[in-house]
Amino acid sequence: MNYLIVGGTSTIGKILINSLVRQEHTCYVISRSDPERSHPSVKSLKMNILEEEIPEDYLPQVLDGMVYLPGNINLKPFRALSAEAFREAYEINFIGSVKSIQAAEKSLKRSENASIVLFSTVAVKTGMPFHSAIASAKGAVEGLARSLAAEFAPKVRVNTIALSLTDTKMANRFLDSESKMKAMEERHPMKQIGDPNDVSVLVEFLLSKNAKWITGETIRADGGIGTLKV
Ligand SMILES: NC(=O)c1ccc[n+]([C@@H]2O[C@H](COP(=O)([O-])OP(=O)(O)OC[C@H]3O[C@@H](n4cnc5c(N)ncnc54)[C@H](OP(=O)(O)O)[C@@H]3O)[C@@H](O)[C@H]2O)c1
Repeated sequence: MNYLIVGGTSTIGKILINSLVRQEHTCYVISRSDPERSHPSVKSLKMNILEEEIPEDYLPQVLDGMVYLPGNINLKPFRALSAEAFREAYEINFIGSVKSIQAAEKSLKRSENASIVLFSTVAVKTGMPFHSAIASAKGAVEGLARSLAAEFAPKVRVNTIALSLTDTKMANRFLDSESKMKAMEERHPMKQIGDPNDVSVLVEFLLSKNAKWITGETIRADGGIGTLKV
C-alpha cells in the first residue's frame, strides 16, 4: 500500500512510518526538515506545505491513505491573541490539510480502501480557557473532515483524531520538567499524558481495512479529559 504522511518527521509520524515500512508499505513523507534516516520505501520530499504545491509527479497513481500532522499550539488569553495568530493557526491546521487532500484526491480515489486521517484537539468539543485560536482552527478541520467524508463516500473514508496533551516535540514546553509532567498527568482522568505510540496505532487502525465501516468520525484520544468528570 502507498501512504502520504504530511509531517512525517514528527514523533507520531516517525513511529507510524517505521511501522508501515516494516509491513512493506511505501510512505511518501513531507516535511520542512530532512528525515533522520533514509529507507528505500520512504520517499521524502522537503517542502513547506503552506508555501509550495505538492508536485504532481511526486505522488503515486494510487494512494491508499494520507495523514496530515502539522499543527500548532498557541495557548493565550483571547485578548493576547492577534488576528494574525488566528490566521496562523488556521493556515497550518486547516489550509495545509486542504492543500494536501486536494493534491492527493485523485490518487486516493483510485484505491480500494482509501482513508484520510486528520488531527484535532479535545478543546473543540470541550471548552478550555486560552484555546480559542487552536480550537477554532481545529473546529474547521473537523468540519472539513465530516463534509469530505460525505462527499467522498463510498470511495474514501475521512476521520479525525482529537488529542489531548501528547508527548511530542510540539508539546515539549508543557512537559520539560518533572513538576510540569506530573501536573499534566494529574489533569487527565487516566493520570497520564498521551503516548505517541498509542496515537500511531490508532492512525494505523483508521488507515486499515479494519476501519472500513468508520468514516466522518472525530475520535478522542485524550485520557478521558474531554468526557469524564472524576
Ligand atoms: N502533541 C500534542 O499535545 C497535541 C495535542 C492536541 C492536538 N495535537 C495535534 O496533533 C497533530 C500532531 O501533533 P504533533 O505534536 O505530532 O506535531 P509536531 O511534533 O509539531 O509535528 C508536526 C510535523 O509537521 C511538520 N510540519 C510543520 N509545519 C510544516 C509545514 N509548513 N510544511 C510541512 N511540514 C510541516 C513538522 O516537520 P518540520 O518542522 O520538519 O516541517 C513535523 O513533522 C497536530 O495537528 C497537533 O495540532 C497535538
